[in-house]
Amino acid sequence: MLRFKMDFITKLRKEHLEIGYLLISLENLMVKDNLDLRKIKAVFENLSNLIHKHESEEDPFFSDLHLEDKEFNKLVDEIEKVHLLIKGHLEVLRKAFSSNNYNFIRASFENDGRMLFSKLREHMYNEERIFDFLLFFNLNKEKIELFNK
Ligand SMILES: [Fe+2]
Ligand SMILES: [Fe+2]
Repeated sequence: MLRFKMDFITKLRKEHLEIGYLLISLENLMVKDNLDLRKIKAVFENLSNLIHKHESEEDPFFSDLHLEDKEFNKLVDEIEKVHLLIKGHLEVLRKAFSSNNYNFIRASFENDGRMLFSKLREHMYNEERIFDFLLFFNLNKEKIELFNK
């Protein structure tokens, strides 16, 4: 029997919404003719810190989360792989944003940034499906117990 705190899943879901909001904020800043580098750097810093903190709490959660169902385990393995990819893209962007070179920043955002953003959105969607699974199993009182203490 796997046991999870319901509060923990709620917290991860809330952070997904915050990450989604920061992605939109950064996209809006990057499409302006005149880049406001001070704002862009501040939003990126928030986004990057939040993702690192969020994923480092998710890593042990997902690595414990292997059931007898092979398909389910494949989904979980994929989540762990994508965490590594996300870190790589974030690092490339961090270097670009600290360069103060507007052309380099724009080009990095159009390449690594866009790729990272779509990967992140797909990734959070997949994680949400896993949370739904956990809630479903819990409703059926099989294998998983969610609790509120
Ligand atoms: Fe994640
Ligand atoms: Fe997540």
